[in-house]
Amino acid sequence: MEWLVKFFKGSDYLVPALDIGTSSLKLVQSERKGNSYKVKVFGKKEYREQVFAGVEVIDEFELIDTIKELYRELSIKDKEVIIHVPLSACFYSVISIPSSKNPEEAVIDYMKSIINPEEFSLVNIDYKVLPVSIEKGNVDIAIAAIRKDFLESRVKLLKEAGLTPVVIDVEPAAINNQFYLNNPEKTVSPVCLVDIGASFTKVIVSFGGYPYITRNVEIGGQAINEQLQKEFMLSSQDVELLKRGETIKDLTYDEAFGVIKKVLRKIATEIMWTIDNFKDRFNLEVESIYLYGGSAKLKGIVDFLGELSGLEVGRGNPLGFSGIFGNEEFAVASGLSIRYKGDENAKV
Ligand SMILES: Nc1ncnc2c1ncn2[C@@H]1O[C@H](COP(=O)(O)OP(=O)(O)OP(=O)(O)O)[C@@H](O)[C@H]1O
Ligand SMILES: [Mg+2]
Repeated sequence: MEWLVKFFKGSDYLVPALDIGTSSLKLVQSERKGNSYKVKVFGKKEYREQVFAGVEVIDEFELIDTIKELYRELSIKDKEVIIHVPLSACFYSVISIPSSKNPEEAVIDYMKSIINPEEFSLVNIDYKVLPVSIEKGNVDIAIAAIRKDFLESRVKLLKEAGLTPVVIDVEPAAINNQFYLNNPEKTVSPVCLVDIGASFTKVIVSFGGYPYITRNVEIGGQAINEQLQKEFMLSSQDVELLKRGETIKDLTYDEAFGVIKKVLRKIATEIMWTIDNFKDRFNLEVESIYLYGGSAKLKGIVDFLGELSGLEVGRGNPLGFSGIFGNEEFAVASGLSIRYKGDENAKV
């Protein structure tokens, strides 16, 4: 009966998007009204136990249980779901070639130059010729490579939760797409999108509606917690409250921020490195940075990163397109939620 339901729901029907983060799940389901989108439902749920060690799932049971609970809480009955491949499990970049060259050959040559032949059979490679190019006379091609074992295990895990992934998108594309959904007028100059999650910071430089270069940094909110615990000998619960602005055992947020800054400096270095790399390759200057992810909520982060980078820094609003502000941690789920089955752009 699945097709009948689909038929009545119309081809405009969008299925829920589930961001499986390393500290929590985020879900967004959008709906399309003519040419615009609205958020129908959104919600998040933190894992009770540690589910991830880096990219590896170490507690499958807890993950499946949390997915089921979130679905129950939000009263979602859909079996089809849109998910992402974290930047830590994929490769994404854009190459620029003269328009006289064959795109497929260029993609193969490029991939051969960065991964060895044994690794070749372990990844799915996909490419898309972009409708924009930075340099006149050139063609820009987006290339994504995803580890096959990652895809298989993710699909299997979701099956066990009773769900079927119908679209799987790469994380930088999801973050990029929500940015242009919320800021459609910002295509003329490059922007740097930074998602500071629990385990990883995802740095993306986008231009003209597309992500161009990416960098996954293995530092996030968890690294801040570890640093604070080490310096002040606090429990993980206390550190989490301190980080969110509370005074714990006479320790104020201002004092804690001195320690938080150490971690933010490392993140800033990686951001600047990525921006410089983009400039070297495409000869364009990034002027603004948009922050996403739960750690973008840190008090003082906007001013501090502004001082360090000398650029315009602000927090993004992933659900701003629907009049909902804040919720920086919903960037991935927001970007995924406007994908649909058969959406040919979703391949990259
Ligand atoms: N108000 C807040 N102030 C400071 N930090 C916060 C706040 N709210 C959440 N965080 C931090 O944000 C992080 C979680 O963010 P997010 O939900 O984006 O991560 P994730 O998607 O689970 O992780 P990843 O993307 O690395 O897999 C945690 O480290 C948490 O401590
Ligand atoms: Mg995340």
